[in-house]
Amino acid sequence: MQKLIIRGGARAGGEISVQGAKNSALPLLAGCLLAGGETVLHNCPELSDVFAACRILSCLGCKCTFRDNTVTVDSTVITDCQVPDGLMREMRSSIVFLGAVLGRTGECRLTFPGGCELGPRPIDMHLAALKQMGARITEDHGYLCCTCPRGLKGTKITLSFPSVGTTENIILAAVLAEGETVIYNAAREPEICDLAGFLNLCGARIKGCGSGTVSIEGVKKLHGCEYSVMPDRIAAATLMAAAAATGGELGLLNARSGDLQSVIPVFEEMGCGVFPYKDRIFISCKKPLRAVKTLRTMPYPGFPTDAQAVVMAALTKAEGTSVIVENIFENRYRHVDELIRMGADIKTEGKVAVIEGVGSLYGANVRASDLRGGAALAVAAMGAHGETCLENVRFIDRGYESIEKTLNRIGGNVRRIQS
Ligand code: EPU
Repeated sequence: MQKLIIRGGARAGGEISVQGAKNSALPLLAGCLLAGGETVLHNCPELSDVFAACRILSCLGCKCTFRDNTVTVDSTVITDCQVPDGLMREMRSSIVFLGAVLGRTGECRLTFPGGCELGPRPIDMHLAALKQMGARITEDHGYLCCTCPRGLKGTKITLSFPSVGTTENIILAAVLAEGETVIYNAAREPEICDLAGFLNLCGARIKGCGSGTVSIEGVKKLHGCEYSVMPDRIAAATLMAAAAATGGELGLLNARSGDLQSVIPVFEEMGCGVFPYKDRIFISCKKPLRAVKTLRTMPYPGFPTDAQAVVMAALTKAEGTSVIVENIFENRYRHVDELIRMGADIKTEGKVAVIEGVGSLYGANVRASDLRGGAALAVAAMGAHGETCLENVRFIDRGYESIEKTLNRIGGNVRRIQS
């Protein structure tokens, strides 16, 4: 078990490059399966979830190498259509391989990804959509057995909620399906556009990403390509929160302000100056932070649930009362009790969190229990007086490349130790 020892108090400063996006890299790696040739993905973050996705590709028969943030996947030959249970359990988002494996081989066996730290994570929408496309899905001793006896067929699918993973799975299943698939109420997240951009470069015909109606004209075959994973908008928001919590200023290289259109105004409401440029964002948080009125997490382009915890960490120090409403996941306030150990004043009831700003936090022993909640504790610790011991770093490693190096590069004093 590894933990971080974070000595707080220094203002964040300097310039830092934002890592590649985890939530884009994972579906892109699933997409490599469909290429049927060699694909090179640059700017791929070195994260435990990404390594797990590479292991899934290897299990399916792909040749996969990872060096210096570049993954090369050769999917010319696929030898298996089963994702091992251990890997399904390791990473909930492995469900995104279902559409890709089914699209490539016509069958797929995998186990239910099950619940996770954020509460129940049903996959009913994924399964219903694939059934609409002609998949036959049965359960066998905990395994989901999917076949498509007459091949996958394009159809019109209306989602009851713009689920990110479901939209990705349908796109992955549809690119090699017969005819046109249209998704109504599709997720509009930038990661969906990244997936479509990648698949189109491989020869797919996907239109409308980012608009809510996505159409995919099936093609007979794809080919490999070279592509760069988009910058991680949540890692950018986390660094912005670190600047806010420490009263610092940061230049975020590669950060795309267009992807942060609902996040930037929140930092501005807190009193930070945010200056977007073509290839970077500059944030200055020299003034005392102010509370925000009501922050509601919503599907894109609304405020992202993945940035809720890190923004909350900064708001604990803001003057006044802030309110957050978490609309996407049931169990996404597990960082709250730990922030309270650091001196924060937060009350939660159901979806709502009320944060009374306390001016300053102090270091304490705290424990991460999910990825973004863990990052929020690191942000809070950067802005706290004294030393914080943050346990369960493995959750943070799922989404942030060497968080201690990143925080030290912006002026932090962070050590990783083995406990
Ligand atoms: N949902 C269902 N049934 C389904 C699918 C989803 O009820 O079949 C529900 C979920 O339980 C949840 C809501 O719909 O309440 C949203 O789920 P969605 O499918 O949109 O999320 P996801 O694809 O499982 C991705 C990200 C999450 C991010 C969400 C929302 C990846 C690998 N994961 O998850 O990222 O929070 O979209 O934006 O892309 C993270 O990075 O920390 C993270 C959890």
